[in-house]
Amino acid sequence: MKTALTVLTTLLLLVLLTAFSTRAKTHGNAERGRYLVERVGLCSDCHSPRDAKGEFLADKWLQGAPIPFAPTVPMPWAPVAKPLAGLPSLTDEQALTFLTTGVLPGGRRPLPPMPPYRFDEEDARDVIAYLRHPIAPNTK
Ligand code: HEC
Repeated sequence: MKTALTVLTTLLLLVLLTAFSTRAKTHGNAERGRYLVERVGLCSDCHSPRDAKGEFLADKWLQGAPIPFAPTVPMPWAPVAKPLAGLPSLTDEQALTFLTTGVLPGGRRPLPPMPPYRFDEEDARDVIAYLRHPIAPNTK
């Protein structure tokens, strides 16, 4: 009887542990994602509009912006960075593939100056969790 209880308790613990670790894997950490977006990838440099002084517009944080510079030689180029806030154009799985391989749905790759990031899977999930509900930093 005692042994059966021990076995049952151990099984229950295992099930719970598996459930938690799977959850941690599929649901990114938004706070860490915020760090990766704001301080490592600097996504806002291109995807967030600015005022005439070059300061970010907090109420338009990551909502897409014209690229404020151009290449000096002819080359493929996208003059506008699309909205990132809420990740409107991609599902979680599409965003995961894109952030880890650089490939968009349909095999498309974004034009420069979008950098070809290669986040690892955990970082990509954190970035996605943050981008679904981004919080504007204190710009002033
Ligand atoms: C140097 C400028 C620049 C930076 C920095 C940048 N992007 Fe971009 N991004 C662009 C441009 C320009 C496009 C549009 C490319 C095109 O239209 O082909 C784009 C496109 C994208 C797209 C594709 C949207 C779609 O549906 O086609 C995603 C997603 C994206 N960026 C995410 C990010 C993330 C996440 C970061 C930060 C980790 C980031 N970008 C940093 C310029 C930038």
